[in-house]
Amino acid sequence: MRKKVTIVGGGGAVGATAAQRIIDRELADVVLCDVVEGIPAGRALDMLESTPIIGSDVHARGFTTAGGDYRDTAGSDVIVVTAGFPRKPGMSRSDLLQGNYEIIKAVVPPVVKHSPDAILIVVTNPLDAMAYAAFKLSGFPKHRVIGMAGVLDSGRMSTFVAQALGVSVANVHSLVLGGHGDTMVPLPRYTTVASIPLPELLPKERIEAIIQRTRDGGAEIVNLNRTGGAFYAPSAAVVEMVEAILKDQKKILPCAVYLEGEFGLRDIFMGVPVKLGARGVEQIVEIRLTADEDAMLQKSAASIRELVKALPL
Ligand code: LAC
Repeated sequence: MRKKVTIVGGGGAVGATAAQRIIDRELADVVLCDVVEGIPAGRALDMLESTPIIGSDVHARGFTTAGGDYRDTAGSDVIVVTAGFPRKPGMSRSDLLQGNYEIIKAVVPPVVKHSPDAILIVVTNPLDAMAYAAFKLSGFPKHRVIGMAGVLDSGRMSTFVAQALGVSVANVHSLVLGGHGDTMVPLPRYTTVASIPLPELLPKERIEAIIQRTRDGGAEIVNLNRTGGAFYAPSAAVVEMVEAILKDQKKILPCAVYLEGEFGLRDIFMGVPVKLGARGVEQIVEIRLTADEDAMLQKSAASIRELVKALPL
């Protein structure tokens, strides 16, 4: 059976770049949809015309959803939702709350109706609140709604660790939990370089600087780009998750998922290590945290709850 991935928001930079990466790796047929006229169809056709050149035997199609018709997305294995307003310089991810909630509310119910067995990956910010909203609005079971953030934040941390030590990124495995916001929880104790825990290799102040730069990673790029935020690393993170699901890899990745008592938290979406496979979230991996680490995680949860409280869910 051919695999099918729908990208809602496929006219935007994160969605389109994710689609291109999926096509480059021949992971699945791709459907791009977006409210704008022309662009999703144009981008999809452009990507399709790349397939003979790169030798990738997949289809790509795009269409506008302005009429609310999602029929062409039917039977998707994975639906990625990137639709939403991006940040401008000076804005935090939470400033997008109400505007992007309206978008999630408009796109999630019709798209899941046509793919009732799909796995939903949410990318729209503020991530943890939007993943929670998508979970409630979809009616999907918790193991089929997943927020993308931890893979991106951990990727950023690994980049900075590799730079600081002058080593290959292939040596570095970072772990960032918590919300995708200013309170995210990078964990140096669980970050390793060739299996060596990071605190053995760098002094505390340099690790602190890496943690802060990781927390500010999205804003650093918004400030440099001026128009629009990051999309290369976010789309790479989405595709690592899509691949783990489509290939049933059972890969452990930090993702925002619905918690029901794990890490002492309930009725919240937040980043924790999970096993991703064909069924979606196949396991939540509860790791032991020190009192300080746990305090940071609880603080991050509190800031997510503040946002969710402002939504009519
Ligand atoms: C970032 C956006 C995707 O962190 O939240 O770049």
